[in-house]
Amino acid sequence: MRRRIIAGNWKMNKTRDEAVDLVGDLKESLADVGDVGDVEVVVCPPFTALDAVREALRGSNIEIGAQNMHWEDEGAFTGEISPLMLKNLGCVYVILGHSERRTYFGETDESVNRKVKSAMSNGLLPIVCVGETLEEREAGKTEAVVVRQTKAALAGVKTNGAERIVMAYEPVWAIGTGRTASADEANRVIRIIRQAVAEVFNERIAQEVRIQYGGSVKPQNIADFLGQPEIDGALVGGASLDAASFAAIVKPR
Ligand code: PGA
Repeated sequence: MRRRIIAGNWKMNKTRDEAVDLVGDLKESLADVGDVGDVEVVVCPPFTALDAVREALRGSNIEIGAQNMHWEDEGAFTGEISPLMLKNLGCVYVILGHSERRTYFGETDESVNRKVKSAMSNGLLPIVCVGETLEEREAGKTEAVVVRQTKAALAGVKTNGAERIVMAYEPVWAIGTGRTASADEANRVIRIIRQAVAEVFNERIAQEVRIQYGGSVKPQNIADFLGQPEIDGALVGGASLDAASFAAIVKPR
């Protein structure tokens, strides 16, 4: 049985003080919804709030992740953040290859792959994002795109421990738009991603790797996605910035 994982991607939102307020509210909201069962909960604040959020989360089961990193451990890379720095702050996860990074900051399959390998060798668990644009979808290229991105991101990663990698299927046209893939369709594409993971590693690892859906996940639609056999959780952007709505996604009523 794969353990569900719900992660909040705060993107470039929240000052350190606002972040501390948000996790304070989140701890209360999660206490209100009670036992969240066997769900792993992760928040991914901006770099500048990671340390404060980690402190504020002490004593809770919520883990922290970063939204990006460089692949080198250290060096002359002005403005970059290394895996060692994230690890030292207590990060467990790091989102890699988010479509906003690919679209606005020039990330490629190759740079995402370097980052995935670096995260794994530094003991950080990547949440690797893949997904097609609207244009690619309309051209019937969804499968080809997610398979290419998945195989490229995972190429050369050691099989040992690879079952701990998390994948996120995020159709680009569904991110921040209020439009979502239908749960059926997300399930179908996620099955294809899982097959690609099996081709890179093996079937056992593919069955253990957790694959999230992301793109306009809200309290109102989370149950549809989680009702699908291939969908192991969600990567939540906008709705993770509100404690009550994120708590309601972690534990749909
Ligand atoms: P959204 O973002 O939930 O605001 O659509 C998801 C994401 O980009 O991870």
